[in-house]
Amino acid sequence: MAKMWAGRTSGETDILADSFNSSIGFDQRLFRQDITGSIAHAAMLAKQGIITCDEANSIINALNGILQDIESGALAIDQKAEDIHMFVEQILTQRIGETGKKLHTARSRNDQVALDLRLYLRDYSDDLTTLLKDLIGALIGKAESNLDVIMPGYTHLQHAQPVLFSHHILAYAMMLERDVQRIADCRRRINVSPIGCCALAGTTFDTDRLFEARKLGFDSVCLNSLDGVSDRDFCVELLSALSLIMTHLSRLSEELILWSSQEFSFIELSDDFTTGSSIMPQKKNPDMAELCRGKTGRVYGDLMALLTTLKGLPLAYNKDMQEDKESVFDACDTVKICLQVFAPMIRSMKVNAGNMAESAKKGFMNATDLADYLVLKGMAFRDAYKVSGTIVAYCIQSGHILEDLSIDDYKKFSPLIDKDVYQAIDLGNCVQKRSSEGGTSIESVKKQIAHLREVL
Ligand code: ARG
Repeated sequence: MAKMWAGRTSGETDILADSFNSSIGFDQRLFRQDITGSIAHAAMLAKQGIITCDEANSIINALNGILQDIESGALAIDQKAEDIHMFVEQILTQRIGETGKKLHTARSRNDQVALDLRLYLRDYSDDLTTLLKDLIGALIGKAESNLDVIMPGYTHLQHAQPVLFSHHILAYAMMLERDVQRIADCRRRINVSPIGCCALAGTTFDTDRLFEARKLGFDSVCLNSLDGVSDRDFCVELLSALSLIMTHLSRLSEELILWSSQEFSFIELSDDFTTGSSIMPQKKNPDMAELCRGKTGRVYGDLMALLTTLKGLPLAYNKDMQEDKESVFDACDTVKICLQVFAPMIRSMKVNAGNMAESAKKGFMNATDLADYLVLKGMAFRDAYKVSGTIVAYCIQSGHILEDLSIDDYKKFSPLIDKDVYQAIDLGNCVQKRSSEGGTSIESVKKQIAHLREVL
């Protein structure tokens, strides 16, 4: 079929070149944004007297009809079309004839595609924020229903100090809270209108860019037309925020996978969010968490692909930029599905408080508290550290834990130690005493929950 841009050339391209050039396979999802943008454009053209009101009405009615027909399935998007912009314009002209051809006055596909993408990502950012908040809510719920459950806190994956499970899981809620902020910040720069930049240099027509931008809900317009059509910073920013979300989900996934192993048995994921094995009848695999961890690499890849596509491009639009959409949409879809799966997986997960508490007894996690105890009795911390370490070494050698060492044994290491040492090293007390701002005490955890609730 001859192209709408036939003129200088015949508009006949090789079949292979045609399909190579076409982006309809992946930009058809922009049909709503494309039509919404065109409706605002027609209204602006009429307001400025560039087309008549009758012409604008006829264009707008037809565009609404096209939207309805695509949504209802009455109009199938032609997979042989060059892209969604050409498809919509073609159908418009088929339906209303000559008037349809006036829509593309004072715009170009270059500002049009930038507009569509910004409109799409603006909505996406809002959806994503809802999903992030839902997951934060799920984490808060788990923290609240397991508020005083003690688990081992780790550094180097070695038992370090006892912490509350609620404290641990809220660390992820904090990461996601920052993600919400990042998306909001990114959205501000998405919400700037490129329409009216035209092909690259603006237009000779007396357009009203601000009117069109306001109609579409934008905060402002891009002030340099070359920048307006070639800027994909907002995509890079979003993909980098999405990559960080995936980093957070991946780290949490890793913990869920570890915790549901036989060795830990800290949690049990519900049957709905695990799978079995085709050969081993006893298996219950944390596939959803593994997939989230695995898909993280894909989203990073999308970000790298986009950055690499952009790095060598001279101003203004280059066809390379058509490659932005597959990376952007893939990252958007991937993060969305991961968040959708994650929230119910967290909500339905069972916490094995007993196993966590049992594990917390091992590894001398109260050794720091023993040292702190000696400090309170007047010893310098460095000396107290050494005494506590020596006692731990003695316990390992003699098969004791700090809790069951006799007071006579303790006295051999320091005369400062008294019966109140047992209270000082009780794991429950170790946690409760960490009441510093942001510490692992119940009071601190409650404060964190209150803060997060406010964000929601
Ligand atoms: N399908 C194109 C894209 O996604 C639309 C813009 C085409 N512009 C052009 N000058 N050929 O980038």
